[in-house]
Amino acid sequence: MSSPAAKRLEGKTILITGASSGIGRSTAFEFARTCPNNLRLILTARRIEILEKIAVEIHTELGEGVKVFPVQLDVSKPDQVRGLVNALPEEWREIDILVNNAGLARGVSRAPNISEDDMTTMFATNVTGLINMTQAILPIFLERPDGGRGDIINIGSGAGREAYPGGGVYCATKAAVRSFSDSLRKELIATRIRVIEIDPGQVETEFSVIRYYGDKNKADAVYAGVQPLAAEDIAEIVVFTASRRENVVVADTLVYPSHQAGATALHRKS
Ligand SMILES: NC(=O)c1ccc[n+]([C@@H]2O[C@H](COP(=O)([O-])OP(=O)(O)OC[C@H]3O[C@@H](n4cnc5c(N)ncnc54)[C@H](OP(=O)(O)O)[C@@H]3O)[C@@H](O)[C@H]2O)c1
Repeated sequence: MSSPAAKRLEGKTILITGASSGIGRSTAFEFARTCPNNLRLILTARRIEILEKIAVEIHTELGEGVKVFPVQLDVSKPDQVRGLVNALPEEWREIDILVNNAGLARGVSRAPNISEDDMTTMFATNVTGLINMTQAILPIFLERPDGGRGDIINIGSGAGREAYPGGGVYCATKAAVRSFSDSLRKELIATRIRVIEIDPGQVETEFSVIRYYGDKNKADAVYAGVQPLAAEDIAEIVVFTASRRENVVVADTLVYPSHQAGATALHRKS
């Protein structure tokens, strides 16, 4: 017998950005495991070969009930985002849930030493990438009855609520995501479209390796003496929010590991 969550997700098409790693990858598995009988997953990221492996892993674990369509997509490239929906086969275009997860931090430099390249990459991915994705998918939602139907799930960050030294640009991008989510929720108030923001604290993924330009030692030091969240913890929350009754909007969620109570309020075991 399927669970209430599975019943609510059945038949849906879900598009996840940044599905090749960390939270996005785990979210793909969590949706598939929660609703293994009738689901379509469009998995997008730049590393298509990883997405293709994930598709095989999902099929091996869960069979043919979950259909997976991997798509190479760089959200920081507006022309790629603009062309995305028309490039999908017809039967994949009726998207019901958009998980805007792709994002990154580059560096921990403080002003005036922040590289222009890092700044541009973070804004183009985390902010304009997310907004362009939303604008590409929203028309599909707005075509539906009652003014429109669908879920937009934005992965923000605790960094968008509380800025910290060395995070000026990353924190600013995530504060922008938060403002955009809040505005969009109000703009869509007369519809059945849910705008859901989930703001994680520390999660151990490839995030810190990317932030430190591949320096694994520096990335590991971020998690020394603490027990960060796992990508699965956030994936469970994403799927929880998407599988509530249609009238329930989990609008805004801040998720910390137990040792964390703020951007710099961390308890480390010595
Ligand atoms: N880890 C944390 O502590 C933490 C905390 C709060 C919020 N977050 C947020 O959670 C989200 C996921 O991060 P994560 O922790 O799971 O990190 P991750 O393991 O590094 O995953 C990031 C994902 O984003 C994708 N991505 C990056 N740039 C992209 C682009 N231009 N176009 C398309 N996809 C792109 C990557 O795929 P490709 O490289 O294959 O493109 C990858 O799949 C991000 O928005 C991040 O800001 C993370």
